[in-house]
Amino acid sequence: MKIAPSILSADFAALAADVARVEAGGADLLHVDVMDGRFVPNITIGPVVVEAIRKRTRLPLDVHLMIVEPERYVGAFVSAGADIVTVHAEACPHLQRVLAQIREAGARAGVALNPSTPPAAIEYVLDDLDLVLVMSVNPGFGGQAFIPSAHAKVRRVREMLGGRDVEVSVDGGVKVEHARPLAEDGASVLVAGSAIFGAADPADAIRRMRAAAG
Ligand code: DX5
Ligand code: ZN
Repeated sequence: MKIAPSILSADFAALAADVARVEAGGADLLHVDVMDGRFVPNITIGPVVVEAIRKRTRLPLDVHLMIVEPERYVGAFVSAGADIVTVHAEACPHLQRVLAQIREAGARAGVALNPSTPPAAIEYVLDDLDLVLVMSVNPGFGGQAFIPSAHAKVRRVREMLGGRDVEVSVDGGVKVEHARPLAEDGASVLVAGSAIFGAADPADAIRRMRAAAG
């Protein structure tokens, strides 16, 4: 199981120190939440901050775009150093085209599904993606409660993917107690913000989450 700390719950005024802490603590990826105040109510960060983070860490950057018209910004985020760019299916009428655009720009392509979006939304782009991000909260804020229907969605997505080498990542309200059931469902990445940065010892929180996944 890979663990991806979400910097949304980090101290934005001491970002480099928080990133260094989770990198030293064994994080596999760094999850970066980009919000535009339109697709979701909140506003967070843009490519300039991703570029600044890129200079401070060797961790792969897993950039989660919660923005409308993400195709307008794919190039900027890849140039800024994103290794994975994930767009929301709900924000992309031409999803296949955006996924191809991400790969052509040189990054791995992800699709996020809001809690109410059926897995069928990705049925015809399974060969165009490298990661599926199953949202276990309605995106926009850290610290929300895990929505249990994510379990069934992870199982269905893993079944749809068959033998494809695609990550299934779960994002929102993920705590240590969810790690084992999500591993059994077929998840390969756990995104966690408050469970890691809200812990007294983030490195220990990463270790415990990975160990719990088995
Ligand atoms: C929610 C974001 C998540 C968030 C997770 O909109 O996509 O990545 O940071 O934070 P927690 O783990 O606190 O729910
Ligand atoms: Zn996220």
